[in-house]
Order: sequence, then structure tokens, then C-alpha cells
Amino acid sequence: MAPPDVSPARALSFGAIAEDYDRFRPGPPVEAVRWIVPPHRHLAVDIGAGTGALTRLLVDAVERVVAAEPDLRMAALLARNVPGADVVSARAEELPLDTGIADAVVGASMWHWVDPERAAVEVARVLRPGGVLGLLWSGPDRTQPWVADVLTAARPQGNADAARGRRHRHDGGLPADAPFSEPETHTVEWSLPVTRSSLVELACTYSEFIILSENEKTARRQAVTDAVLAHQAGGADDEFVLPMRCQCWRAQRRT
Ligand SMILES: C[S@@+](CC[C@H](N)C(=O)[O-])C[C@H]1O[C@@H](n2cnc3c(N)ncnc32)[C@H](O)[C@@H]1O
Repeated sequence: MAPPDVSPARALSFGAIAEDYDRFRPGPPVEAVRWIVPPHRHLAVDIGAGTGALTRLLVDAVERVVAAEPDLRMAALLARNVPGADVVSARAEELPLDTGIADAVVGASMWHWVDPERAAVEVARVLRPGGVLGLLWSGPDRTQPWVADVLTAARPQGNADAARGRRHRHDGGLPADAPFSEPETHTVEWSLPVTRSSLVELACTYSEFIILSENEKTARRQAVTDAVLAHQAGGADDEFVLPMRCQCWRAQRRT
């Protein structure tokens, strides 16, 4: 179930472009995973796992990984991409897992799509006491004006307010009585080599673009292309640097 101010169609829009999402949307950096998942853990649950951008890093860090994803089109690629994870079809609000079983429950670029009240209760149930809820929001660094211009161009015009509303939810947003310690935060910055076309495709992997009509998509894609060209007018295949930023959030299940 999506939070009250988000349409379920948007929360589950990514499956419509699952292959493009998987190809063009960069995952979080390994440094962020190291920060949210302490070493020597047995079981981590990746919620809203999508096509496995975070899951594939977790399988190298944790003995057993359960990857939960409610959209079957995303889950099919997840199973293909990360055969070492156990894939389950589930929302974060209702996980088919035993109580107190997980050392860590983690999610990347997904907590703003869940009902945080219900998901917090469910995650607290699945975590063992002392286990960690770790959340990441990873993507192009919108604090850089040219990057903001490119990503804003993919949105329906006049939707900047909605975008601002979504950004402020980039934290755990747990209910006051949820059984978690005071959260800690951390930011990781890095650079991603892109070409003009890969950056255009990346900008078109966000839900506000995915749910547009075909006509609107054509207009928005052109606006994104123009914004990219304004920054990088070199050859079509020239690589340039996209600044990236990952906001990390973690809190421990109280004992
Ligand atoms: C932006 S994608 C992030 C996917 C992946 N974690 C990543 O970093 O690429 C958001 C994912 O959350 C999933 N999702 C939507 N509503 C959800 C819910 N209530 N519980 C769990 N996942 C949900 C979507 O299907 C989608 O795969």
C-alpha cells in the first residue's frame, strides 16, 4: 500500500519499464552498503528490491539475503540478476518472514513509496533486537543546478512542488512510538561516467515520467535532451561526469 499522498499507480510504475530501469538507473555505492549493514551479519532483507541494484551488493556482504519486491515484472529481473538471493513477492508492510529473524532490513530509493506507519511496525517485527533498519536514497546530485535542470525537465511542467514534497521524505520518517533508536545519517558522494544518451535514459526512469501519456513523454524527453545538450554539447558518445549522491539513514531495533 502506498502512503496516503502517493497514488499506487506511481508506486508500482517502475515495472512498466523494468528493462530500462535495470539498464540505466545506477544503484547505490558499496560504501553506503558498508555503512548501513554492519559486518558479519547472517540475514539481510532488501525491501522494495526492484531489479536488484542493492541486492547484488548485499549478497557479497551477508550470508543470506531475502529480496522482497511487490512488482512481478521487477522481481523477474531481480531473480535473473541476483541468483544468490531468495526473491519473495511482498510489500514492506507485509513480509512473509518469521518474527525476529533478520539482522538487517534495508531498502534503496523505496521508503517514500511505503506506508511508513505500517512498514515500521512490520520491519520491527522481522528484525531481531539490535538489528538495523537501513535506508538509502541514491541518485544524481540534484544540489548541482545543471543536474537539477536535467531531472526537472523529465517532470510534467508545474510539478516542481510535488518534487519538493517527495524530497523532504528522504528519511526514515518513522512514527514517534516505533521501537527504534535515534537515527544516524551519512552522505556518500561519487562520480558516474555517462554519455548524453545514457543520461537522457536515466532521467526517464522516474515515476513522474513513466506515468505520462506517450505525447507528454515525447515532449519531456526532448526537454531532457535539450537540458543535457545545454550542459554537454560535445560528441554524442563522449563520456562526462555525473555527480552522484547517496543519502544513508539507519536506526537500530530497540531491545
Ligand atoms: C525506485 S524503485 C527502487 C528499486 C531498488 N531498490 C533500487 O534501488 O533500484 C522502488 C521500488 O519499490 C517498489 N515498491 C513500491 N511500493 C512498495 C511497497 N509498498 N513495499 C515495497 N516495495 C514497494 C517498486 O515496485 C519498486 O521496485
